[in-house]
Amino acid sequence: MTRQPKVPKAVFPVAGLGTRFLPATKSVPKELLPLVDRPLIQYAIDEARAAGIEEFIFVTARGKSALEDYLDHAPQLSATLRLGNKTSLLAELERTWMPTGAVAYARQDEPRGLGHAVWCARHLIGNTAFAVILPDDVIAGPTPCLQQMVEAYAECGGNVVAAMEVAPDMVGSYGILDAETGQGRLGAVKGMIEKPSPENAPSNLAVVGRYILDPAVLDHLSQQSVGAGGEIQLTDAIAAEIGRSSVYGFRFDGRRYDCGSKAGYLRAMVAFALERPDLRDDFEACLASVVQPQVAAQ
Ligand code: UTP
Repeated sequence: MTRQPKVPKAVFPVAGLGTRFLPATKSVPKELLPLVDRPLIQYAIDEARAAGIEEFIFVTARGKSALEDYLDHAPQLSATLRLGNKTSLLAELERTWMPTGAVAYARQDEPRGLGHAVWCARHLIGNTAFAVILPDDVIAGPTPCLQQMVEAYAECGGNVVAAMEVAPDMVGSYGILDAETGQGRLGAVKGMIEKPSPENAPSNLAVVGRYILDPAVLDHLSQQSVGAGGEIQLTDAIAAEIGRSSVYGFRFDGRRYDCGSKAGYLRAMVAFALERPDLRDDFEACLASVVQPQVAAQ
């Protein structure tokens, strides 16, 4: 008998409108925007695979069908590459293929918030611990973030949310934790509040887009309570679980890029291009030729 992984399923909520990237996102799902040559969703999938995830649940919406095509096999394209002897491109293409039957879709009929999107996947999640990955939070590090979290979860159980310190004037953009701070990466959470004003923020420790959750969180989401911004917030449902089961903030080792914002996306693009051995030298020269004339003009 094969051993059941501790966290077998991951939910990818990809039903948001991506309004910050309009007009591009009028017809291209935000999750398909590329970092260099790989779409954001591919980074999220690779991270999930590295963490041992076996079932991939995408919460999609109207206008996201390109995403479903991206996740499909492409036999005609691979036949053409094979005919042309383009073996490295073929390998790159086939590396993106998902195991047959490992992908499932739930539909969010209205963009009512992240919590609502996760709740839309409740029948596919069932009664098992599950991960949630937001593909617009790209996290680079020596060990993939979700893998770090799964390892921590294997020790502590309960619920684990990825956390990082943000500038005090940014707390209003995040779910903020009231958490014990020790020497280690895990801190027990005593409270959490979505998008607090700086005066009401219990800390500057923010939740970012990786979660390992107990299915009890889905029961709280069933209440359909509307929170900050008029949306059903995942943070509120996790907060409702504090005291019933353990909730931990996990300070991951890595660098997070907010690819849901234009500046964060561009920063990630530059950082990832500079990491690529096949691009670094050319790209450094390109960057210098763009940036230096402006510097000189100042
Ligand atoms: P965001 O708020 O960052 O994404 O949601 P958005 O709403 O698509 O983007 P903007 O603010 O309009 O530019 C974080 C994640 O939650 C998903 C998004 O797809 C994204 O992955 N989400 C959000 C849903 O799936 N459904 C929702 O109703 C809201």
